[in-house]
Amino acid sequence: MLTSAKVRIVFAAMLAFGLLLTAALSGCSGLAVGDRPAQTPPAPDGEYDPAVWGEQYPEVYATWLATAEPRPADKSKYKRGFDGAQMYDKLSEYPFMPLLFKGWGFGIDYQEPRGHHYMIIDQNEADPSRVKSGGACLTCKSPYAEDLNTEDKEAFFGATYDEALGMLPEEHRKLGASCIDCHDNETMELSTRRWTVDAALTEIGLEPDDLSTQQQRLMVCGQCHCTYSVMKEEGVALDVDFPWEGSEWGAITVENVIDRLLEDPARTEWTQEVTDLELAFIRHPDVEFYSAGSPHMKVGMACNDCHMPDIRVNNETISDHNVMSPLKTDMTTCKRCHYDSAEELKAKVLAVQDANAAMLINAGYQTATAAKLIEMTNESIDPSAVDIKPTYDEALAHYKQAFYRVVWMGAENSLGFHNPAEGQRILKDAQAEADAATQLLRDLLTDSGVEVPAEVPLELDKYLEGRGEHEKGFIQTHYLGDPSGQALKSWPLSLGALLQ
Ligand code: HEC
Ligand code: HEC
Ligand code: HEC
Ligand code: HEC
Repeated sequence: MLTSAKVRIVFAAMLAFGLLLTAALSGCSGLAVGDRPAQTPPAPDGEYDPAVWGEQYPEVYATWLATAEPRPADKSKYKRGFDGAQMYDKLSEYPFMPLLFKGWGFGIDYQEPRGHHYMIIDQNEADPSRVKSGGACLTCKSPYAEDLNTEDKEAFFGATYDEALGMLPEEHRKLGASCIDCHDNETMELSTRRWTVDAALTEIGLEPDDLSTQQQRLMVCGQCHCTYSVMKEEGVALDVDFPWEGSEWGAITVENVIDRLLEDPARTEWTQEVTDLELAFIRHPDVEFYSAGSPHMKVGMACNDCHMPDIRVNNETISDHNVMSPLKTDMTTCKRCHYDSAEELKAKVLAVQDANAAMLINAGYQTATAAKLIEMTNESIDPSAVDIKPTYDEALAHYKQAFYRVVWMGAENSLGFHNPAEGQRILKDAQAEADAATQLLRDLLTDSGVEVPAEVPLELDKYLEGRGEHEKGFIQTHYLGDPSGQALKSWPLSLGALLQ
């Protein structure tokens, strides 16, 4: 039965979309450019400098510049990147992550995201282990990546990170997402600017130049807010590729992506130290997770509907290009369709996030436990022995399924809100896979005469402390506890010791 609140929501949404549709049909090519009359192209071909574009759109330009500003503190529980000008250490927030990611850069230095202004600056400031893939690292960070790739792909991908930065004009070596990344310079229509996106869209059967309005709006953000592999051959980076093959629009699922990661050795990027397994990785799958049937996706919404509020400046309505968490703009975008108060809306977001965080954190420690059991097995028995190998391999297969799901849900940026039911589904599966691996490994070890303690010691401090060149350590004030309290009950020795 539809509650009256729901009917109001649906009605308001239809109204909002009716208006959008009218705008789209009234001859401005799907992009509302405020009340401005048609103008000369905002920027000449190949003009990257947002200041030049800004000459025609000074109000928008000012909001774009504001992505450099600190975010208001105490508005968001889970996404605190740059709140009060502080950066947040994701590995201290979720201490199972440094254990799982030990073996490469993500286990050393992994921060919560902050404003678009910082995307290259943050790479420069990160531990050097995070930019080992060289030129590939600029793919979704610099508007110049598209040209460097077209001009000389081999040189771009063969370059170290510093060499690749040196290929950019000096004045733009810190320039992140710019007008030209998202807009056509002649028409101002939304457009993407990456060969990776065109390849991925083609793989799922779409025509990159013929997208629906919703697809186009999602993909301007999704060109970077997506997962990808740095394709490697014998350790050398060759390309950046989204593991989307075999999926379809609206169903780029974790299962399909994991299949691609498992079947293509070129997607193997690192060796997990605890288990000695060669693995792929999953980065911020925001567009994948959101578009896989979320309630807001189904009603035609895109990222900017929530992340770029309409604001009035100089009697003109523009989209706020200072993209950030809707919690930090007091839910103004939501209120266009929802009649709840800001407090009610925030409470709804938090309810989803708390449930998701509890599952993520528990799945994380379950997977970390399985990893430590793999380590114990490798150290105490010979996993290649004929009577051991089949069970061991089966355990590893379950483990990888759990691991990739935990990485997926730990890397999507909304703590489950973008697609609540999908998040619950994925994390339930992660827990089941981790438990299956754990049970098989426990049996294997016990049958071989190895004693396995009830709580497998996770040695969390060993992975958290002394990370990388900057010797990073656990920051307790960044730690995010399991809101259900279950994690502390299940891993009292490991987590208790850490939190003392
Ligand atoms: C060129 C790549 C790129 C594009 C395009 C892009 N983003 Fe981002 N976005 C990033 C990166 C990288 C970060 C993290 C930057 C950092 O922490 O240094 C980020 C951070 C964010 C944040 C966190 C900001 C904060 O202050 O906390 C939000 C929200 C966000 N993006 C939303 C969007 C939306 C919505 C779109 C589309 C309108 C979009 N992004 C397009 C790369 C991109
Ligand atoms: C229905 C509204 C809605 C839509 C649509 C939406 N988001 Fe979000 N997004 C949120 C909320 C709510 C959060 C949680 C913010 C928080 O916890 O502070 C969030 C969080 C994020 C964050 C982390 C922000 C931060 O401060 O670290 C990023 C990045 C992001 N979204 C990107 C996207 C992208 C990309 C899309 C489109 C593929 C998208 N969002 C679509 C509502 C939305
Ligand atoms: C990360 C992607 C992204 C970047 C970077 C970006 N825009 Fe936009 N822009 C958007 C989106 C999304 C919209 C909303 C389009 C819609 O409503 O469908 C938009 C809308 C606009 C509009 C239409 C009026 C409005 O405000 O809604 C103008 C003008 C504009 N942008 C100018 C600029 C300028 C100038 C820059 C650089 C200083 C810039 N944009 C950078 C994504 C971006
Ligand atoms: C363009 C209109 C629109 C915008 C903007 C929008 N929503 Fe929604 N929202 C909807 C519609 C339509 C539904 C689906 C209603 C249904 O199926 O019951 C929905 C469903 C929801 C639900 C699940 C149903 C419920 O009420 O518990 C939540 C929670 C929610 N939205 C929160 C938000 C938040 C938070 C924001 C802003 C960050 C937001 N929405 C922005 C239209 C919108």
